[in-house]
Amino acid sequence: MASGTAVTSKILKNVLFFSLMISVISYQFEVGEETGWVRPTGNEPETYNEWAARNRFRIGDTLYFKYQKDSVLVVNSADYLNCNTSNPISKFDDGNTVFRFDRSGFFYFISGQSGHCKSGQRLIVRVMHPSEVESPVSSPSPVPSPAEAERSGGDGGWDSDDWGPPGISSTTRLTVASYFMTALAGILVILYLFM
Ligand SMILES: *[C@@H]1O[C@H](CO)[C@@H](O)[C@H](O)[C@H]1NC(C)=O
Repeated sequence: MASGTAVTSKILKNVLFFSLMISVISYQFEVGEETGWVRPTGNEPETYNEWAARNRFRIGDTLYFKYQKDSVLVVNSADYLNCNTSNPISKFDDGNTVFRFDRSGFFYFISGQSGHCKSGQRLIVRVMHPSEVESPVSSPSPVPSPAEAERSGGDGGWDSDDWGPPGISSTTRLTVASYFMTALAGILVILYLFM
């Protein structure tokens, strides 16, 4: 093999490696953190939507819902507002739900248990459009100021409760989804074997 070809091949490998790193890394967000997906008692430091407003969600990221004797319904905005559980887009009730964002825009989640949504067991997530993602491997943004939160809540769908003290329960655990890492490893092995 001519050395020019070898150099080109090496550059190509690096380009592929970094574009894979960028496209493949995604985060799993744990809804409700330690508490999970439960009917709020009213003593929580923040609502599900306040939690969501502190984070930045991208296409490919996942939400992890952990719950017992409950369910997760993906609904449209009207059914979210009315807590209407009768015609969900999707329904999950296995207790361990991983929901992957396959597009940008708004996603609406409510509990399917009677009364739970009205108590505040509901969540709106806005997934950023790829053009908004300045840094491809960014972690969640810091706590937004209440003013910013007000602005982002302009569609009327967000709970308007007071904001909890900043920084509290900010232990959102970010896990690189293992199956993505497995896929990446597989692709890299193939690249190095055949290039
Ligand atoms: C829930 O949605 C269904 C279908 O859109 C509708 O027929 C029903 O009246 C709604 N129920 C409530 C309580 O809004």
